[in-house]
Amino acid sequence: MRGRVFVSCPLPGSAIERLAREHDVEIGIERVGVRGDDFIRAAETFDAIVSCVTDPIDVALLDRARRLRVVANFAVGYDNIDVPACASRGVTVTNTPGVLTEATADLAFGLLLDAARRIAEGDRLVRRGAFDGWRPSFLVGVPVHGGTLGVIGLGRIGQAMARRARGFGMRVLYAGRTRAAPAVEKALHAVHVPLDDLFEQADFVSLHCPLTPDTRGLVSSARLSRMKPGAVLVNTARGACVDEAALAEALVTGPLGAAGLDVFEDEPRVNARLLALENVVLTPHTGSADRAAREAMATTAVESVLAVLAGNSPLYPVAG
Ligand code: 8YV
Repeated sequence: MRGRVFVSCPLPGSAIERLAREHDVEIGIERVGVRGDDFIRAAETFDAIVSCVTDPIDVALLDRARRLRVVANFAVGYDNIDVPACASRGVTVTNTPGVLTEATADLAFGLLLDAARRIAEGDRLVRRGAFDGWRPSFLVGVPVHGGTLGVIGLGRIGQAMARRARGFGMRVLYAGRTRAAPAVEKALHAVHVPLDDLFEQADFVSLHCPLTPDTRGLVSSARLSRMKPGAVLVNTARGACVDEAALAEALVTGPLGAAGLDVFEDEPRVNARLLALENVVLTPHTGSADRAAREAMATTAVESVLAVLAGNSPLYPVAG
């Protein structure tokens, strides 16, 4: 039987066409998604939602969407979804792990390189006509090769980041809720350390953990104060893992030397102090934004909807 699927915004590739062959699809408005009138008016008619990280899937929505069987998040992170509330109503939640691993690690390493070697800062300087000639101490940055990278969360993306770091001759430390398998530690030469030790020993700290009650505010002013003078912080995970006000303070008064941020506490708003700083590189939540990754995310989300509406188990259910 044909179901009704609300896809929160237009998605890249041809996955939606495939979905539309089997089900009736309504596509929401970009950046409005489940908060739009088209969803709210017809909430009780939908069997499935393909949601984005900007869609709050909460109790209020679930109480309206009484036919709902599956929420397929177009993302690996799912902190926008009340998973226990979905589970208690029999609504399956899925995500898109795997397909965006390398794309996100590419951007994270790009931010690391940019923050360390002042690439965007140099670009701004050249564009405003301030390149007035070469000199030995001009825009000198932090050496990346041979440095120590601290990975917080050695899951898929954290491991991909560690692989890139190995290519740059870096030492890799990691901390996280779970210890990686010995074979993973060995392959990456990754050394497990307590979280606070990681902040003390790393030249670069990169976040690859989900946002949970345990990781909210994990990069606190106390932890920032333990970092090495001139250290670099990279965040492609979730903005709320970092205390943004404390981060801005540490970038001005030290010890932090620079930061590369793809995510923010209150997107799309960015802390005004950060915007004014030269030693921070900012990208607009584009971790997974390469063409292949985004198309594969759409395919994965659509496959999940097709599986659940056909009465089958989806490939990537999220535990409630
Ligand atoms: C995105 C992400 O860039 O997958 C995630 O959790 O944050 C990234 O893939 C974006 O959120 C996709 O909707």
